[in-house]
Amino acid sequence: MTIQLPVADQGLTWAVTRNEYPLPAADREAILADPGFGKFFTDHMVDICWSKGGGWHRPRVQPYGPIQLDPAAAVLHYAQEIFEGLKAYRHADGSIWTFRPEANAARMQRSARRVALPELPTEYFLDALRQLVAVDAAWVPSTPETSLYLRPYMYAKEAFLGVRPADKIAFYVIASPAGAYFTGGVAPVRIWLSSRYARAARGGTGAAKTGGNYAASLLPQAEAYQQGCQQVLFLDDQGNLEELGGMNIVLVRKDGSILTPDSDSILEGITRDSVLRLATDRGITVEQRPISLAEWRDGAASGDIVGAFACGTAAVIVPIGTLLGDGVEIVHDGPASQELAMSLREELTGIQHGRVEDRHGWLTRLDG
Ligand code: PLP
Ligand code: COI
Repeated sequence: MTIQLPVADQGLTWAVTRNEYPLPAADREAILADPGFGKFFTDHMVDICWSKGGGWHRPRVQPYGPIQLDPAAAVLHYAQEIFEGLKAYRHADGSIWTFRPEANAARMQRSARRVALPELPTEYFLDALRQLVAVDAAWVPSTPETSLYLRPYMYAKEAFLGVRPADKIAFYVIASPAGAYFTGGVAPVRIWLSSRYARAARGGTGAAKTGGNYAASLLPQAEAYQQGCQQVLFLDDQGNLEELGGMNIVLVRKDGSILTPDSDSILEGITRDSVLRLATDRGITVEQRPISLAEWRDGAASGDIVGAFACGTAAVIVPIGTLLGDGVEIVHDGPASQELAMSLREELTGIQHGRVEDRHGWLTRLDG
C-alpha cells in the first residue's frame, strides 16, 4: 500500500510504502534489549533520487531490503560515496529526539563537494530522518545508553565506466538500534599506533566522510585487532596526531586543560565539537593545534598528560588506556586518567537522553 504524504513548504512529496512483514514485536524487543552496534536494521529505509537534469526527486519510504544496482554503477568502481552517522534518542516521556542534525547535514554537504556529489539540502536531510523515524518509531530503544543509529548515505548509481562525476545519484537512510560500540562498554580501550599506513594525505579526502577513507583504515585496523587493540591511531606525515579510524582524539593534562589535533585532513567530529563546548562552559582551557606523538609520549612520561579519550557518535566518549605501536607504549591508568572523560560522557549523554538541560539548543525533535 502506497500513500502520498505532501510535505509542507518543500516541494518534496513523499511516497510511503509500509513494510507488510515487519519484524514481530517480540523479536524486535529482544534485539532492543541487547542491540550491540550495527548488526540489526529496522523495517524501513528512505530513498531519494538525484539526476543531473532533474535534481532531487522521488523521495520514498519503503520496506528495508536489498538495493538493485547496475554492475557498472560508478560507486562500485570509483567509490563515489559519502555517509553520515547520528542517533535518535528516546526521552523518558516517550518522545524521540536527535542531536545537532543540521551539523551532520552541513558536513554531508561538505563531503559531497569533495567527492563531486550533489549537496542534499538540510531540510531534505532532516525530513528524511523524520520520515524514517515516523514509520520505525518502535525501533527507538528506551533502555539507558541505547539509541537508534541513523545512517544517511549517498552514492553514484550511474552505469558508466568513464571516470567523471556521475549523473545519477541515490541518497538513502537506514537505521540500526545501538548499544555500546565497543564490546567492553566504556572500559578504557587499547589503541594501535599505525606507523606504516596513513589514513589521509594533505589535499586528500581525510576531512570528508567518504567510504574510501574507511577502506584505507581496514588493514591497519586488522593489525590493531592482532595486537589486542580496538582502534587505530593515525599520524600525519610530520608525526602529528590525526584521529582514530572512526573517532577523534582528545588528550587531558594534569592542570585540567585539554588538547586536540588541528588538521585539515581529519573528520570534524560533531561529538568532539560538543565536548570542547561543554569543557569550555566548565572553564576548562581547550587547545586545538598540531600535537606531535613525541609531545604525548613525553607528556605522559613527565606526568603532564594524565589521560586521553576517543569521541564520536557511535562510541560517544571512551577513555584510552593504552597506546601501543612499534617502540611506543603510553599507558594512562592513573587516578585522574578517566575522570574527565567519564564526566563529560555523563553530561553529553544526559543532554542527548533528555536528563540534562539542553542549554545550547542541540536537540531536535523527530516525532510529533
Ligand atoms: N573521525 C572519524 C574518522 C569518524 O568516522 C567519526 C565518526 O563519525 C568521527 C571522527 C567522529 O565524528 P562524530 O563525532 O561527528 O560522529
Ligand atoms: C560514527 O561514529 O558515526 C561513525 O561513523 C564511526 C564508525 C561507525 C564508522
